[in-house]
Amino acid sequence: MFWSLIMFPQDIIMKKRDGNVLSKEEIEYFVKGVVDGHFQDYQSAALLMAIFLKGMNAQETSYLTQAMMNSGEVLSFPAIPKAKVDKHSTGGVGDKVSLILAPLAACCGLCVPMISGRGLGHTGGTLDKLESMKGFRVDLSPKEFEKQLEHLGVAMIGQTSNIAPADKKLYALRDVTGTVESIPLICASIMSKKLAEGIDSLVLDVKYGKGAFMKSFENAKILAQNMVAIGKNMNRPTVALLTDMNQPLGKMVGNALEMIESFECLKGRGPKDLVDLTIELTAQMVVLGHVEKDIHKAKKLVQEKLASGIALEKMKEMIACQGGDPRVADDYSLLPQAKFQESFQARQKGWVYEIEALKVGVAGMILGAGRESIKDKINPAVGFTNLAKVGDEVKPGDLLCTIHYDDQHKKQEAVHLLEKAFVIRETKPPLPNLIQEVVQ
Ligand code: URA
Repeated sequence: MFWSLIMFPQDIIMKKRDGNVLSKEEIEYFVKGVVDGHFQDYQSAALLMAIFLKGMNAQETSYLTQAMMNSGEVLSFPAIPKAKVDKHSTGGVGDKVSLILAPLAACCGLCVPMISGRGLGHTGGTLDKLESMKGFRVDLSPKEFEKQLEHLGVAMIGQTSNIAPADKKLYALRDVTGTVESIPLICASIMSKKLAEGIDSLVLDVKYGKGAFMKSFENAKILAQNMVAIGKNMNRPTVALLTDMNQPLGKMVGNALEMIESFECLKGRGPKDLVDLTIELTAQMVVLGHVEKDIHKAKKLVQEKLASGIALEKMKEMIACQGGDPRVADDYSLLPQAKFQESFQARQKGWVYEIEALKVGVAGMILGAGRESIKDKINPAVGFTNLAKVGDEVKPGDLLCTIHYDDQHKKQEAVHLLEKAFVIRETKPPLPNLIQEVVQ
């Protein structure tokens, strides 16, 4: 009689292989087995491939997200009365929005328990940028994290091994088995980690384009719709913005350099695309956190807080609380500096028609700003500043960017890529629409 209740990994693999829908129990059994070793890696990999090929419906994806979230610690902050809201980006080149948005959202009355990741490949990671400030600790204990949230309303830390451990294991397997680009697997991976942070609601920045994880707008939209549905299913209202990642965001790429651009933004001197996107994402958080009812009022509040300079003060307080030196926000010489700088100039007359974000990101990675494998060490000082933008009119000799580098050979390799990344034509390009759609 009990025989029918016994599950075997191979039965679940075969069920999905044949295109059937997995039950809640089967999905929970799989996730538990991944963490406790009952599922061997080859069996997990086989099931991941079956999911990759046959997909999962919305209900299965929700069950998978829940099981992965519950595979470790799920934080909660009942003693903090403010709305707990976070933002997650699917990653891009020059995307330093979190560094501006987190203190800004806290100044608007929200609590922002932000747990971020490191950069991999051509995309940067918030933790690497924060760590370019000497002494800044991203490894606060859960107690320290909660205390800072109570006192400041914002803390930015790295993922602990206790948060969604099933994702850690599964992501590593996906990485080496060609199963990363699966919408249900990406959804469950991102949402399980974010929902374990103890948030009430979430804003997603889902990027599409040449520098994004999702190359096509259509796939990015499906990913956004799925994540929004999971958030709603789990009682965590979620809104997603679909944003363009064909050219880098802002005018600086590189870890310490992106800290500088974030400080500039907090001083009201940020580049338009970065400022616009940060305001829009923060305003969505303000609405989700019920500080304002409509998006127009929320934007006004966010703009006022940014212009007042209090978000910069909040950033300095956060740096001090997390072990850094807040003077860095006014004295950029306290950040690591590359040994050399070189101008990269236009060779022809015309308009900057395209700046391929992926190539700029890879060029940055070659200089040392990013890592090919998660074990690689990064160089916080290197990268690019003064990046031109699509639509800029140029003539021979005009600056397309300044390269900050330590190694001559690496710089040469980066220049080869930049030559391909910047496309200059004699016709004016259509200007890209940074925020394409809001999914809610
Ligand atoms: N980021 C994640 O955290 N998980 C994925 O699967 C993809 C991007």
